[in-house]
Amino acid sequence: MRLCVVGTGYVGLVAGTCFAESGNDVVCVDIDAEKIARLREGVIPIYEPGLQELIKRNVAEGRLSFTTDLAAAVRQSLVCYIAVGTPQGDNGAADLAAVIRVAAEIAGAMDGYRVIVNKSTVPVGTAERVRQVVASRTNHPFDVVSNPEFLKEGAAVEDFMKPDRVVIGSDSPRATELMKELYSPFVRTERPILIMSAASAEMTKYAANAMLAARISLMNEFANLCEHVGADITDVRRGVGFDQRIGHYFLFPGVGYGGSCFPKDVKAVIRSATEHGLEFKLLQAVEEVNERQKRTLVDKIMAHFGEYLRGMRFALWGLAFKPRTDDMREAPAVTIIDALLQAGAEVHAHDPEALAEAQRLFGDRIHYHRVNYDALKDADALLVVTEWNEFRRPDFTRMRQLMKRPVIFDGRNIYEPKEMRDLGFVYYSVGRPPVKPS
Ligand SMILES: NC(=O)c1ccc[n+]([C@@H]2O[C@H](COP(=O)([O-])OP(=O)(O)OC[C@H]3O[C@@H](n4cnc5c(N)ncnc54)[C@H](O)[C@@H]3O)[C@@H](O)[C@H]2O)c1
Repeated sequence: MRLCVVGTGYVGLVAGTCFAESGNDVVCVDIDAEKIARLREGVIPIYEPGLQELIKRNVAEGRLSFTTDLAAAVRQSLVCYIAVGTPQGDNGAADLAAVIRVAAEIAGAMDGYRVIVNKSTVPVGTAERVRQVVASRTNHPFDVVSNPEFLKEGAAVEDFMKPDRVVIGSDSPRATELMKELYSPFVRTERPILIMSAASAEMTKYAANAMLAARISLMNEFANLCEHVGADITDVRRGVGFDQRIGHYFLFPGVGYGGSCFPKDVKAVIRSATEHGLEFKLLQAVEEVNERQKRTLVDKIMAHFGEYLRGMRFALWGLAFKPRTDDMREAPAVTIIDALLQAGAEVHAHDPEALAEAQRLFGDRIHYHRVNYDALKDADALLVVTEWNEFRRPDFTRMRQLMKRPVIFDGRNIYEPKEMRDLGFVYYSVGRPPVKPS
């Protein structure tokens, strides 16, 4: 099948590449001319495991190309994907400007039947808006489909290749058949393709993200309570996770969720409810809890060292909002670094992939280290903010030698308190009693 994917970000680039990998001819389109030029030179703008190899192979075999010429891409495609950003706009609502603009441009370039598929996360009613925009600009036949994306950054290629399910919002048998054909290589292990209305598909994406965000905030609340009553959230997590109705996923407490999706999608649902005269109280609380949770390590630091941190040096491991990505959008690390700088502290940061992104955000306000141990030199404490695998079993003896004081604030509970105590660290984590060397 011939298709174009407009928007070459985390979603569009992965989707386009994976569709090419299954034999389709794909043109990826973006307005960012520099991004397209770099992609044409083989430079991949994001870090995503496995993506670079796939792009290289599919470009070399002639199935994948990149352009800024949307009209030309639309003319040579049967299916046109919209995968542009839908950032938080006024009052928390999703900003649909790019989606609508692309829909209008696709309409202007059409020379026959097209399936216009929206993959961006959008509020209910957007497919209908897209339909109206396109209908007002072309006499050619078309269908609009909602096909939300559920991939996780850090495992995007794997998730796209083996989705738990594919959701198709369509009321057109012709478009539905094309979508089933397109996805058939990805669902050979009996994964379902769920056909529903566009409105239900749009809502499904928000409901999934809201559910996941709610689990995180609920566990963070329990973790905070555990700290006050002397319980251990790790035991509690295991105790509830074995209940088959609950399961183990997304029950890990930490420094709050971040990224380009949960924060803005939770806000968009709250806003959507308000616009319909409803108050989504549960999600309001989910958001509030998350904002507070991003400060939990800073609160612990201030309880330990006092509020004024001038002259103190903090090492920070992990800047990306989660491991295996370089994405720092809404990352808890940003809130934490801002708070430390405001209190007068010096920050020495390390991340395996996000240093360039951090440099773009913080410039020379913090120090950057390619090697995690280098960030520890003369540090008053270490903060673990993202649970990259390489942080799980470090050389603790070397760490103690490098640090001025053996104090660790672990925002991801990646170490064992008893072991840390025996190694001579003062160790704070989330939802577990702190330990001090005896
Ligand atoms: N990142 C994720 O993990 C994820 C997962 C599922 C769904 N989503 C949703 O998918 C959508 C895209 O997310 P993303 O993370 O890939 O965004 P992104 O910001 O990484 O990429 C968006 C791309 O669209 C391009 N763009 C913007 N306006 C354009 C226009 N008019 N014409 C052509 N290109 C244009 C930008 O230059 C950018 O390259 C969002 O709605 C997001 O909520 C994201």
